[in-house]
Amino acid sequence: MADGQPCRTEATDANIERAGALIREGRLVAFPTETVYGLGADATDDDAVAAIFAAKGRPHFNPLIVHLAEPTQAERYVHMTEAGRLLARAFWPGGLTLVLPRRMDSTVSLLASAGLDTIAIRVPAHDVAHRLLVAADRPVAAPSANRSGSVTATTAAHVVESFGIEVALVLDGGPCRIGLESTVVDVTGDIPILLRPGAITAEALMAVAGHLAAPEGLGGPLRSPGMLERHYAPSKPPRLNAVKAEAGETLLAFGTNAPKGALNLSPSGDLREAAANLFAMLRALDQPSSGRIAVMSIPEEGLGRAINDRLRRAATPAVDTNRERR
Ligand code: TXA
Ligand code: MG
Repeated sequence: MADGQPCRTEATDANIERAGALIREGRLVAFPTETVYGLGADATDDDAVAAIFAAKGRPHFNPLIVHLAEPTQAERYVHMTEAGRLLARAFWPGGLTLVLPRRMDSTVSLLASAGLDTIAIRVPAHDVAHRLLVAADRPVAAPSANRSGSVTATTAAHVVESFGIEVALVLDGGPCRIGLESTVVDVTGDIPILLRPGAITAEALMAVAGHLAAPEGLGGPLRSPGMLERHYAPSKPPRLNAVKAEAGETLLAFGTNAPKGALNLSPSGDLREAAANLFAMLRALDQPSSGRIAVMSIPEEGLGRAINDRLRRAATPAVDTNRERR
């Protein structure tokens, strides 16, 4: 973590404008929502999204929620489904996050959705959040503004305590009204699936949708085992710690010692750049016609831990035990 504390300012018009400009420049801005404070960055900027993961200090990549100013903007990034439309009409703006199929032409960073074919969308019902989203003029990826393993931040002071100057600005909008994260519901199919209980109750969702599937332990049948642990992985398990490509392989390189001509996660060996490129490059190399991917070794430090976590899961899909949802 960087030294010092992030700058905390009152959420005045001028400061919200400034925060919006910082987001467009690829910087991190913490902001209040009605649920909890979010640590936001331009969702279309891979490098800015990588900076969120670096600041969170999480040893793996969780998909992030993409925040929009208006419900109508969702269709720019995802395909709206019947179930999604129904719930959005009832609960947006508000504490409901909808997981929807990603559009092929979506400009949202693949790192923001951890390489998945879906994107989690939320339209917050908080004046400061709304004005910031308008000022940023971008979809804003934002996890809860706490460092990995610490309690969720519901005041600007919590955020200031948790982060350093890697966060450019903390917009202070007072304590969060709800203080509990949004409810996450997968609406990619006909039956909505409760992925994370939160601000909007299951009863309220049921009343609108008519039905709701919930994972075990949340009071309902599990539609597909392992649903909570869905991860992107290339179709063929990659070979790790490769030095060069063997016959039939394609090399995904890293660093300065890489063979010339290979696709390189970061030719200079910068882990943030590598994180920003990871999912897009894996997808580019994962073609039916190409062989398996051989990945050069990545240092096990900082964002390298999250990159290696993902690569190891892809290499040995059977031992996927990531159960963390927050
Ligand atoms: O209230 C909230 O939801 C706050 C505020 C800032 O909006 N945000 C928040 O984000 O709690 P985060 O990153 O801490 O939690 C996001 C949750 C995680 O459980 C993640 O797994 C899930 O949403 N999620 C995000 N994208 C997903 C996707 N494409 N498919 C399934 N789950 C997804
Ligand atoms: Mg969280």
